[in-house]
Amino acid sequence: MQNKLVIIYSTVDGQTLKICNAITKQLKEHKQDVALFSVNDFNGDLNNYDKIIIGSSIRYGVHHKKIIEFINTHKPTLEAKKSVFFSVNLVARKPEKRTADTNPYVIKFFKKINWKPTLTECFAGKIDYKKYTFFDRIMIQLIMYMTKGPTNKDAEIEYTDWDQVKAFGLKLIDL
Ligand SMILES: Cc1cc2nc3c(=O)[nH]c(=O)nc-3n(C[C@H](O)[C@H](O)[C@H](O)COP(=O)(O)O)c2cc1C
Repeated sequence: MQNKLVIIYSTVDGQTLKICNAITKQLKEHKQDVALFSVNDFNGDLNNYDKIIIGSSIRYGVHHKKIIEFINTHKPTLEAKKSVFFSVNLVARKPEKRTADTNPYVIKFFKKINWKPTLTECFAGKIDYKKYTFFDRIMIQLIMYMTKGPTNKDAEIEYTDWDQVKAFGLKLIDL
């Protein structure tokens, strides 16, 4: 049986890509036929795939515009196939906000987009103040101050739970 997977992602500082790379490596180790594309580069035909996985990080409360456009453009195909969405954000550093039912961005996203993937996952991202512009750093520091996160301007903390990523990879195989 044909069983091809494609992962399409959007990232700014690279954490979503890091997660995608880990999943791709794991799937290949399990002899899965998997392809990985940035949403900016994908110009293939989704009909060539059986499982379509879409991942995006959050910036100021929203998933990337290109990802939302991609989903809207390909909705009929996504609905005809096994489809998966995952979100990467910092609110998910709190385990109680790391599921599709408890993460505020994921809840809001699905209220608007009118698409129900076969599987939805939510991963904690990374904070790396040194990479941010002055404005972004001040804003994230403020959000972290309000949500009891790290505010030290040199903080570089990866919250991603790699065991969760592995478990997700296995779920993709079984889907
Ligand atoms: C400018 C900026 C805005 C962000 N806004 C949010 C936000 O509104 N909520 C949140 O939970 N995380 C927010 N984050 C955290 C990112 O989602 C997190 O750092 C993630 O790991 C980024 O993934 P990426 O490197 O793939 O883009 C923001 C990060 C930056 C730099």
